Amino acid sequence: MNFKEKINKSFLPRHIAIVMDGNGRWAKYKGFDRLFGHSNGIKTVRQITEAAVEIGLEYLTLYTFSTENWNRPEKEIAGIMRLLVESIEKETPTFHQNNVRLLVIGDLYRLQDDVRAKLQGCITETSKNTGLSLVLALSYSSKWEIIKAFKDIIFDLKNGKFDEDFIDERLISEYLTTRNIPDPDMLIRTGGEVRISNFLLWQAAYSELFFTDVFWPDFTKENFYEMIVEYQNRERRFGKTSEQVSIKN
Ligand code: FPP
Repeated sequence: MNFKEKINKSFLPRHIAIVMDGNGRWAKYKGFDRLFGHSNGIKTVRQITEAAVEIGLEYLTLYTFSTENWNRPEKEIAGIMRLLVESIEKETPTFHQNNVRLLVIGDLYRLQDDVRAKLQGCITETSKNTGLSLVLALSYSSKWEIIKAFKDIIFDLKNGKFDEDFIDERLISEYLTTRNIPDPDMLIRTGGEVRISNFLLWQAAYSELFFTDVFWPDFTKENFYEMIVEYQNRERRFGKTSEQVSIKN
């Protein structure tokens, strides 16, 4: 079955967010170190980014490293950061060739200086690209982001930038790290777990959720395209009735 050909290009999701889970278990089942799983996970990052470019997706957000991941063994953290820096170095020219713009969301001050500098370099270099926006959620968690937004809103409120009647959905969205990024239409999690894990809690209010047992290193372009086809067959009602939605369509 070729799912890519079944995708209706005039009804694409704008933004797909992915929890890339299962690297560690994938490696363990094969008798390897967890880092072997992460380095194979990078191959999937490449495949899925390419898949997104091929269909003309606007935004792809990858949950690369959560706030909670800082509690992992130091060796694993150092390994993931090294893989990240190497990939950014290697892929920056490919981003350009494919008109990809890199964005990063998260508490970047917790990253080592060299990692932050490498990311910043790639963000600046690709900032004029107009194709896919590849958003890495790094040192990110929704609760961290919401606490930060609260503090920033209270600061601006106290300084008279606006009064409390001005606080609505739009304003809160503007204080999140995802300002200027549309909410995800689809949220995918690989690796068999069925939870959100502190990822885009505000933004995913109306996302369509997709879970698969496939571990991230085994996740293919066709797996990805199959989910997009399923998304296109779902009815998104946003709290309305089925009749209201079909009248609109
Ligand atoms: C989850 O699998 C994966 C991570 C916490 C890290 C993923 C990071 C990469 C693939 C590197 C990203 C690099 C770029 C360029 C985006 P897990 O370790 O939680 O797996 P497990 O649940 O099987 O233990």
